[in-house]
Order: sequence, then structure tokens, then C-alpha cells
Amino acid sequence: MSTIQKTLTDVELARQFPATFLWGAATASYQIEGATREDGRSLSVWDEFAATPGKVAGGDTGDIALDHYHLMPEDVKLMKQIGLDAYRFSIAWPRILPDGRGKVNEKGLDFYDRLVDTLLAHNIRPFATLYHWDLPLTLHQQGGWLNRDTAYAFADYAEIVVKRLGDRVADWTTHNEPWCAAYLGYGIGIHAPGLKDRQSALVAGHHLLLSHGLAVPCIRAHSGATAQVGISLNFTPAYPADDSPETQRDLARYDAFSTRWFLDPLYRGSYPEHLFEALELTPPPIQPGDMEIIATPIEFLGINNYSRAVVIGQPTPPLADQCQMLSPVPGACYTDMAWEIYPQALTDLLVRLHHEYHVPALYVTENGAAFADTWNGDDCVEDAGRTDYLRRYIQAGARAIEQGAPLRGYFTWSLMDNFEWAEGYSKRFGIIYIDYPTQRRIIKDSGRWYANLISDFHAMT
Ligand code: NOJ
Repeated sequence: MSTIQKTLTDVELARQFPATFLWGAATASYQIEGATREDGRSLSVWDEFAATPGKVAGGDTGDIALDHYHLMPEDVKLMKQIGLDAYRFSIAWPRILPDGRGKVNEKGLDFYDRLVDTLLAHNIRPFATLYHWDLPLTLHQQGGWLNRDTAYAFADYAEIVVKRLGDRVADWTTHNEPWCAAYLGYGIGIHAPGLKDRQSALVAGHHLLLSHGLAVPCIRAHSGATAQVGISLNFTPAYPADDSPETQRDLARYDAFSTRWFLDPLYRGSYPEHLFEALELTPPPIQPGDMEIIATPIEFLGINNYSRAVVIGQPTPPLADQCQMLSPVPGACYTDMAWEIYPQALTDLLVRLHHEYHVPALYVTENGAAFADTWNGDDCVEDAGRTDYLRRYIQAGARAIEQGAPLRGYFTWSLMDNFEWAEGYSKRFGIIYIDYPTQRRIIKDSGRWYANLISDFHAMT
């Protein structure tokens, strides 16, 4: 199929989506909240990692971040101003259980109670994520995700949160991007906790998956009949650089590692064939019954997609996780993260998940672009590049729906500029600009564009 597509007007674009479609924006606790030592919150692996010299660009930390912990009411007003139907946020485990398990910190629960009530008062549907990487440090000191007990601690934590919020929150995501938590955190050490051991990444990944499966029934038990449970996975779909047999071989290996490592256990109850041999690693410690627990049916899959990978075959089979098999694309456009802009990958991915995995409902839980925005001190931030990116990716979502993919909603990453992990505050993904010294918020042009799209959509539905 041709990748050259007609550009739709914004009204035409809005018209491509079904009346029940949800328009949202996403954030995560450690990236926005700040107040890391307030109201009984204990430290997380990210507090320790960011405080270690050399781990985060500019020595940035989440200590203050966007001070969302205090500015939450103002931030919800901005969401309303943009017209969001839904808001995806995450809950900080160390605020709820400072020791990771055991004694509950009521003040931590109170914060999310206030957030949920404020969202509902503004008619914004809360989508809560239970784990977006801020593992309580105490649990890390007991082995973190390498310790099978952490999976059980996670299910207990999920139960506590859902017992408190489940009367008002219907949409739950267990994990955000467990691939990143396992591989970047335990395999190559560029994220917390900073381990560099690829075998450990497989172990951490298995326990993350297990914790998801253990948490699903706990969430269902304490939320209403309309509850939807899901998980968000990151996808960078792989394409061949040429049609050589080596490229086909390496493409399959890369796909198993980058797309199917977490997807297959969830939807097929098994790890991809040859995954472990392609990585030259031994399987993680899988106990009897684990794969059935992991494959517990869920209502939706969250898709986090920003870019694609282009694979070029190597003379001898490389390890599936090696970047040497990735090929630069001449003439391509890249964001500030050096990620190629390739909206067709989102269409292809959604259609593939529909056809090959029969996923009953899909949400794009993250999609967006970092650009080096500047603010001239008035009420406006011009970010035409981001608007163009969003328009093209949203159109790619519409094309997937046309081809039958059950896409139910779209959340842009991110509502606001924030702490971009190892990149600190140097990368700006928001549709709202943050002036960090003053904590002033300015809706960027892309935010205004998104607001218009949502309003055009609702004018027709
Ligand atoms: C992945 C993560 O879920 C989010 O925390 C991160 O900021 C964005 N994508 C951009 O890298």
C-alpha cells in the first residue's frame, strides 16, 4: 500500500472517529509530581538513580518536577480548557506503601482521591496506571523485580489502591512499558535501578508479567461492573531495510525481542519461540502455572508508539537486541529524541494486533514528540512540528480503524513537559509548556490545535 496519504482537514479528521472515541493526554507520577519527601512518601528507585552523578542529563531529578502534587487543581483546569475526555496518570507506589508492603500511608491515597474527584468534577474520565517505574526503594533493596516476592507485593498494592479508588475509577492499567522497566533498568542500566545484566532483564521481565497477572483479579474484585483492565506496552515496529534472507532472519529476531517478548506471554501464554536463543540467554525461572496467570484475559491493550526501527541483516546472526542491525533512513525526519517520524507504523501495528493477536480493544496510551520548544515570555509557544506529528499519527489511527482495528481512544504523550528519565528536563514532549523556574504553564499551539480537534469531534457527535 502507498504510504503517501491525503492530508485531511481537521474537521474531516475528527469525522473519522466513532462517537464513543476518547481523546486524552497522559503523564506519570515521578515525571510530574515532585514533593518526593512529602506527606509520608518514601523514596523510589528513581530518586536514588537520579541522585547518582552521571545517570541523568544535567543532574536533573524528580524532586520538584512540575510540582503537580501541589498544582494539581490548576493542571486539571488546563485539561478541561483543552477539552480532554480522559486523563491517564500513574500512582506512586512509595506514596501508598512507604515500605513497599504492609503499612498504608493514608495521605498518599488522599492525594489520588483528590485527583480523581477533581477529574470527575470536570467530567474527565480517569485512566489510572499502577506502575510507571517508581518502585519503592525498600523493595529494590530486597531484590526488586529480580525477587519473585515483588510480584505478590504488587498485587497487594494494587488491591489497596483499587479498594480506595475503584468506586470512581473504572479504567486500570497494571504496568506501563514493562519492556523498558526490565531491559533499560536491569539489562543495559540506562534507567533505574541501573543494572547491566541481560539475563537479569529476562528475570525482571518475567516477574513484571507475573505481577500483572496476579493483580488482574485483585483489581476486578474491587472495581465496578464496568471496570476495564489492561496493560500498556511500548512498540517500535520493525521494517526490513532490504529483501535479503539475512534481513528477513534478523527482522524476525528483532521482532521477537522488541515486540513479542511481552506481547506473546500476555496473549498466547508463551514466550516467542527462539527468543532466548536469539539473545543467547537462558529462560527466566518460570514456575508451573505462571504462564496461565500472565495470560489472564484483559479488556484492553495500551499501545505506546512513537517511531519505527529499520533492520538490516548481518552476515552472521547478531544478538537480537543489538543496535548494529538497525539502519539509518536517508531523508527521514526525526524528533528531538532522534526517533524517526513514521505514522504508517502505528497503522500497521494496530492492524497487526487486531489480526494476529485478536486484541478486543486497543487504546493508544502514548504518542507524541519531543521538540526543542522555546517560549518568548508571552502566552504562546509555537510548535508547528508537534502539531504536524500529532495530526499525522492521529490520521494513522483513523486508517487503522478503517481497516477494522478496535481502537477506542488516543492519549497524547504528554499533557505537560516533564522529567524525561535519563534525559532529564532537556526533552519537551508536552502540549503544555512548563517554565520550570516559575512553574508557569502555557498551552502550546499543538495544545490549542488538539483542543480544536476535540471540539470539532464533539460538535459532530
Ligand atoms: C515512554 C514512557 O512511558 C514515558 O514515561 C516517556 O516519557 C515517554 N515514553 C517518552 O519517552
